[in-house]
Amino acid sequence: MNKPNLYQRANGLQRRDAEEILEEYGHLLRWTGKANESLLDIGCGSGDVLIDFIVPQMPRDDVRIVGTDISEQMVRHARKAHSHCENIFFERLDIGTELDGFLESWGQFDHITSFYCLHWVKYQTMAFSNIYALLKSGGDCLLAFLARNPIFDIYDQLSRSSKWTKYMTDVNKYISPYQYCENPAIKIEGVLSSVGFTKYQIQITDRIYVYEGIESLKKAVQAVNPFSERMTLELQEEFLNDYIDVVSRMSLRKSYCENKSDYKFITPYKLVMVYAAK
Ligand SMILES: C[S@@+](CC[C@H](N)C(=O)[O-])C[C@H]1O[C@@H](n2cnc3c(N)ncnc32)[C@H](O)[C@@H]1O
Repeated sequence: MNKPNLYQRANGLQRRDAEEILEEYGHLLRWTGKANESLLDIGCGSGDVLIDFIVPQMPRDDVRIVGTDISEQMVRHARKAHSHCENIFFERLDIGTELDGFLESWGQFDHITSFYCLHWVKYQTMAFSNIYALLKSGGDCLLAFLARNPIFDIYDQLSRSSKWTKYMTDVNKYISPYQYCENPAIKIEGVLSSVGFTKYQIQITDRIYVYEGIESLKKAVQAVNPFSERMTLELQEEFLNDYIDVVSRMSLRKSYCENKSDYKFITPYKLVMVYAAK
């Protein structure tokens, strides 16, 4: 995911969910309101969810905020786009590997947030153990990520076709670790307790998002498509067309409208919310 401009124009679902999760569970974060409070956002992408929805939750405007992302392009974009915010820093961090000096440079945080990122991380225990290490004692975190989404089934199907297989050899890296798990909550609970958390709550909700028209679905898919950088522009467009064909075969398209551009695409998915305190 290295396309900040595209992502910022096609992240309606992610923005809607971040806003709703914060409305419903934002009060769980225990802000002290004291000076020097700090927040780390993991997988901040273009930074707009952090700025538009997380920052307004803060009790003071001098909270030290660090937005992080695995993608250099995302970090560069966020730094430039939000350069006027004096107390917000953007840094590269891969939450799925050893912290490599990040902790020494930035110290621990009072709060950690992460929206729509953790399902990208294969080594969940490593990610949660890093989150535990990055939290101060008494600190807490609010995390939202996908358990299941049809996009992962579609990646899987496309990766089996002779046309796309060579571009998608590592497809499993990009499928949520909970996609084929019967009870994701139990698995997540196991991970949380294995890294040391004793106080936590997990909510998994069934949600639906409707993409209005083929172009809006294509843009949303293209914005997060990890395989597109391996394809020519022409192939990227073919990939999106094949993607739409699979969606249609999976009956996720409402086709009562005559005009193709008016098709609606239904995405049913499971979203995880984790609140945990150290
Ligand atoms: C869908 S975007 C979400 C961005 C933002 N939080 C939002 O809600 O709009 C997911 C972000 O997670 C980042 N990401 C993926 N794997 C990561 C990892 N291992 N460590 C940190 N960030 C990661 C991607 O680069 C991408 O910018």
